[in-house]
Amino acid sequence: MRRLQVGVIGLGEIGGAHCASIATLPQAQLVAVADLRSEVAAKVAGQYGATAYGTAEELLAHPGIEAVIIALPDHLHLAAAQAAAAAGKAMLVEKPLAVDAEEAKAIVRAAEAAKTLLMVGFTVRYFPQYIRARQAVANGELGTLVSAFARRANVVTQTDRIQGRVGVLHFLGVHDFDALRWVIGDEVASVHAISATSAPLAHPVENETFTTLRFKKGAIACVQAGWYLPTNHPAGFDFRLDLTGRDGSLNLSMMEQGLAIHSKSGTSYPYMASPLIAEDRDFVDSVLAGAPSPITGADGLAAGAIVDAALESIATGRVVDL
Ligand SMILES: NC(=O)c1ccc[n+]([C@@H]2O[C@H](COP(=O)([O-])OP(=O)(O)OC[C@H]3O[C@@H](n4cnc5c(N)ncnc54)[C@H](O)[C@@H]3O)[C@@H](O)[C@H]2O)c1
Repeated sequence: MRRLQVGVIGLGEIGGAHCASIATLPQAQLVAVADLRSEVAAKVAGQYGATAYGTAEELLAHPGIEAVIIALPDHLHLAAAQAAAAAGKAMLVEKPLAVDAEEAKAIVRAAEAAKTLLMVGFTVRYFPQYIRARQAVANGELGTLVSAFARRANVVTQTDRIQGRVGVLHFLGVHDFDALRWVIGDEVASVHAISATSAPLAHPVENETFTTLRFKKGAIACVQAGWYLPTNHPAGFDFRLDLTGRDGSLNLSMMEQGLAIHSKSGTSYPYMASPLIAEDRDFVDSVLAGAPSPITGADGLAAGAIVDAALESIATGRVVDL
């Protein structure tokens, strides 16, 4: 079997998980990893039999490398993606595509100019629960969709973990903005958002938000994205989706997956790992098959535009039309 030669750039929380994920795929081989922290790069490389590098540029020169996963802090996605495109590599760029709409558009242009596959890492699309919710809407099981409520919450210390690089709308809100477009099958027409701070923060970013969305075909939605859970919360996350249609309703809770393991090291939900593997498999299979990107640059731009509109609405108090 041909194995796609993959590199992972950025070995923090999600980059490390991508390495573990790629290592499970028989059709891929993790050949190179890069991180500014040389001790981390060396350790991860040793774990997977890959070569360690310090920067994206060095990794992109690795002989035979075909595809990269860019898991750097958001403000570094552009430079790495432009370098990957210039080197003709396929790329999976973590969400959000960029913190700035112009940078996100530049990433899309770079991939188009190089005719290389660009996928955006909206992992929520690979949760079986969200896939089933989308099917329920598409199959008409709920009738015409009227409204949606999505919650995505993490512990209050997330802001400190990522050193205030972005607020919760870029980090978590963007997941549900994309997921709702995908589940509902419609585009957002207008956005209104409010924010609050539930704890004293070292970094002045929004950490508790409600964003209401009006979709073009009439559905309305509210996304609650927040870093407010106490640090002793058993799971560290609270992800939900409620859908209401004219003929039915759907309730999704990632807290009720049928299996939670409470041990000395805390509570874990084993099924939280498999969506990332499914995402990476879809990326690898699409590159190997020369197929179109499963989650396009246009999807990344659309979700990013909703984040920008929500931030504008928080700043002005106005409804923002898209
Ligand atoms: N899909 C998901 O569910 C998900 C989950 C978490 C994070 N993310 C996204 O992944 C990206 C990374 O987030 P994170 O939480 O893993 O961040 P992180 O801070 O944990 O990791 C970033 C890593 O990049 C390294 N780095 C920084 N600058 C570098 C450079 N110039 N060259 C090489 N390495 C460099 C750091 O040393 C660190 O190891 C963000 O865009 C974030 O939004 C996605």
